[in-house]
Amino acid sequence: MNATLQSSDLAAELAARVTAATVIRRDEPLAKRTTMRVGGPAHILVEPASDEDLAAVVRFCGEQRQEFFVLGRGSNLLVRDGGFRGVVISLAAAHFSRVTVDGERLRCGAGAKLKEVAAAAKRASLGGLEFLEGIPGSVGGALRMNAGAMGGATFDFVESVRVMDRSGLIGELSRRAIAVEYRSCRLFQTHLALGCVFHGVPAPREAIEAKLNEFNRKRWEAQPAKPSAGCTFKNPATIPAGKLVDELGLKGAHVGGARVSQEHGNFIVNDGRATAADVLRLIEVIRQHARAERGIELETEVEIIGED
Ligand code: EPU
Repeated sequence: MNATLQSSDLAAELAARVTAATVIRRDEPLAKRTTMRVGGPAHILVEPASDEDLAAVVRFCGEQRQEFFVLGRGSNLLVRDGGFRGVVISLAAAHFSRVTVDGERLRCGAGAKLKEVAAAAKRASLGGLEFLEGIPGSVGGALRMNAGAMGGATFDFVESVRVMDRSGLIGELSRRAIAVEYRSCRLFQTHLALGCVFHGVPAPREAIEAKLNEFNRKRWEAQPAKPSAGCTFKNPATIPAGKLVDELGLKGAHVGGARVSQEHGNFIVNDGRATAADVLRLIEVIRQHARAERGIELETEVEIIGED
C-alpha cells in the first residue's frame, strides 16, 4: 500500500470519528506553516473544531498507533524534509483561540497568538505580559516550551493551565502543581496544552505602551527579519549561545541556503533556498565547533520533527 492510499484511508477513518466542522487534510505541506519555511508534508493535518473532536483525534491516534504532534504557529519548529508520517494537530480553530479578560486575569486558548494576548492585556491595562508581543508563537507553544524574551518567561505569569491527556480527559492544573524549567515543561510530554489563565499586574496604559515599544525596538536591533526558527540553541549556563557562535567566528557560515545570521549568532536564517537538511547540517557544524573549541555541548531549543 503506498503512502497516499494509507493517508486517505486514515483520513476517512478519522473523519468518521469527528464532526463535519473539523478540517482534515492529507499530505499537507508544513513548510508554509513554519517560520523557517522548510520541511516536508504532514501525512494528515487535522484542525479540530471542539474539545470533543480533539479528544476523538487523540484517542484515534492512540488506537491506530499514529504519532501525533500539536502544531502552534511553527515559529520554533524545524520539520525534516521527509515530512511527518503521523497526525499533525492544529489548534487554530476559533474554539481554541479565544482570549477573554476577567479582572486581572486573561483566559487564553492554546491557539491564540501571543501578540493578541499582549494586545488584550494592554487594552485591559494589565502589565507584565509585554514580552509576549514579540514572540511569533501561540499560547500552546509558549506553554510547552516556557517561551521567554526580554527577561520574562511564560510561566512567570501563568495561574493555571488547561490540559488534555492522551485518553481525551480534560483537567485544569494550578501553576504550583506544574514543574517548569528554562525553556521546557515536562507536563507537555504527556499532555496537550488547551490554554491557560495569565495573571496580569494592573499598570497605566502608557507604561505598557512604552515597554512594548522598547521591546519592539530592541528586537529589531538584535534579531534578523529573514525566515528563521528564532533561537536555535538553548543558552548554556556559561555563555549565551549567540555570543558563543559570534566568538567562534561562525556568523555568516552557511550550508546550502541556511546561514548563521549576521545580526544574531543564535539564529539560522533561510535565504529562500534552504532545505531542512541544510539547516540540520549547519546546526551540527556549530555544535562541533562549540565542542572542539570550548568544550560546550549545545542543546537545540528548536523542536525538530519528522523524517529525513
Ligand atoms: N550576543 C553577541 N553576539 C550575538 C548575539 C548576542 O555577542 O551575535 C550577546 C549580546 O550582546 C548579549 C548576549 O549575547 O550580551 C545575549 O544576547 P541577547 O540579549 O540577544 O539574548 P539571547 O540570550 O541571545 C534570549 C532568548 C531570545 C529572546 C532574547 C531577547 C534564548 C535562547 N533566547 O536571547 O529568545 O528573544 O533573549 O530577550 O533564551 C527564542 O527563544 O527563540 C528567542 C529568540
